[in-house]
Amino acid sequence: MAQLDINFRRLTPADEPFLWDMLYLAVYVPEGSPLPPRDIIHNPDLARYVDGWGRPGDDGFAALDGDKPIGAVWIRLLNGKNKGYGYVDDETPELSIAVLPEYRGMGIGRTLMRHILESTLPKYWGISLSVSRENPAVQLYESCGFKTVADDPTTLIMAVRG
Ligand SMILES: CC(C)(COP(=O)(O)OP(=O)(O)OC[C@H]1O[C@@H](n2cnc3c(N)ncnc32)[C@H](O)[C@@H]1OP(=O)(O)O)[C@@H](O)C(=O)NCCC(=O)NCCS
Repeated sequence: MAQLDINFRRLTPADEPFLWDMLYLAVYVPEGSPLPPRDIIHNPDLARYVDGWGRPGDDGFAALDGDKPIGAVWIRLLNGKNKGYGYVDDETPELSIAVLPEYRGMGIGRTLMRHILESTLPKYWGISLSVSRENPAVQLYESCGFKTVADDPTTLIMAVRG
């Protein structure tokens, strides 16, 4: 197989359609379970992570194979009446991440995490996220310094301090 040449760049408002695709991939489905319908992402609890992408405070990175976006990590402040699943406090943005299935396990997710944490963490008290306990992404987050700050039987809220 030809050597992959993956590049990374900052997200722009023009990336919103791709972020909807990434949001769908970020919805955790236990192995062997059927995929949810695509329009699940328009449920307001999920749509708030992407809708109107590019507003002040939104930030993130895309991974690209040539010109083709193949993964993204992004943060958004979700507070007040717009709290997300990973809400910690009004000053802590929430992180989302996904990589296309055929590009997983090659270090792209870890590199995306490094980009976003190096560039945005100094600006915030911290960054948080919500993740299913069973999702192997938990190991990635732990190795990036995230710690569990709240939990329930199925889900963890994790945060890393700035
Ligand atoms: C989570 C995700 C973004 C990781 O991206 P990736 O490019 O595959 O990650 P990397 O190759 O950089 O691996 C980083 C770490 O992820 C963990 N990991 C992620 N998925 C894994 C899996 N299916 N099995 C085992 N480990 C996994 C490992 O700890 C790995 O560490 P290692 O490099 O020491 O083995 C990707 O698996 C994905 O898109 N998953 C679906 C979307 C999702 O669940 N997003 C998170 C929602 S909270």
